[in-house]
Amino acid sequence: MSEYLTLRRPDDWHLHLRDGEMLTAVAPASARLGRAIIMPNLVPPVVTGAEAEAYRGRIRAALPDGATLRPLMTLYLTETTDPADVVAAHSAGIIAAVKLYPAGATTNSASGVRDFDRVRPVLEAMAEAGIPLCLHGEVTDPQVDIFDREAVFIDRVLDPVRRATPGLRVVLEHVTTSDGVDYVRANEGIGATITTHHLVINRNAILAGGIRPHYYCLPVAKRESHRLALVEAATSGDPRFFSGTDSAPHPDSAKESACGCAGCFTAPNWLPIVAQVFQDEGALDRLEGFVSLNGPAFYGMPPNEDRITLRRRDRAAAFPTHITAGGETVTVFDPGFPLHWHVEDDA
Ligand code: DOR
Ligand code: ZN
Repeated sequence: MSEYLTLRRPDDWHLHLRDGEMLTAVAPASARLGRAIIMPNLVPPVVTGAEAEAYRGRIRAALPDGATLRPLMTLYLTETTDPADVVAAHSAGIIAAVKLYPAGATTNSASGVRDFDRVRPVLEAMAEAGIPLCLHGEVTDPQVDIFDREAVFIDRVLDPVRRATPGLRVVLEHVTTSDGVDYVRANEGIGATITTHHLVINRNAILAGGIRPHYYCLPVAKRESHRLALVEAATSGDPRFFSGTDSAPHPDSAKESACGCAGCFTAPNWLPIVAQVFQDEGALDRLEGFVSLNGPAFYGMPPNEDRITLRRRDRAAAFPTHITAGGETVTVFDPGFPLHWHVEDDA
């Protein structure tokens, strides 16, 4: 028996494509998206409009023929970012948003923000020009327990920044807690991306029965009650929540290490996983909102015009367990359940 679901072509509102050999290896897995917000945490980071434009060129060159993906670039906010460069890059159509990493919060975030007052002029210019701010919402204070870092960030940083800069549109990226969901619901002008992996794993996946580095990401997955809050938000139809996979490839050697780095590589199978989550919630009629409609609405863009079809088959879809990039392997996220939704995209 099979069942079909036609959706406007999905976008990904939070994606890491990396650079060099890794970009070449992972770009095909994202080629059939409509658009993707491309994260700027390269080494060195993408800080200026000119760097974003050059990076966009490298992404376009890495995409296979027939790719539908239009990369939406972001700038990596530093304490010395020039507000005029941000506004000019936005007016020239080079960037869609600016990403704020608290310094030290995650992979390649050393050039991020320590003193939030120092970026106030940039945030004010962004509010004025209507440029959204994408926030990695975790404090880096070593005194704060890693499982509490998102909730503390909301009180210490997110709320004060929003109050100090009225009119700034903010995306709380990869929200992982019910605290984050509640904050988004209670306030105006803020949305949140929800990743694929945070919809399906809780912290047991990382730690119970052995350390499983391929489930380690940042913000780290929380307890089950938080996962349930994310599933509820994603499947509720509330337009402030939309899909941003945070697909973040790393070589296995960097993950399977005494100090493994953060990131789940979900680009190859994210849509069948999300479709299964929505089916399990009896919410397949809201899947299109989460993956194709809510994101563009938040960013003030039209939804994609073309469509893709998902087909549910008795036979599970087969995905590779890993891909290779520059002689290294990169493990594909394993959701732990079979994927019966197949993407039939012959547009
Ligand atoms: O798990 C993560 N990986 N979280 C991030 O914020 C960054 C990302 C990466 O770039 O690897
Ligand atoms: Zn990310």
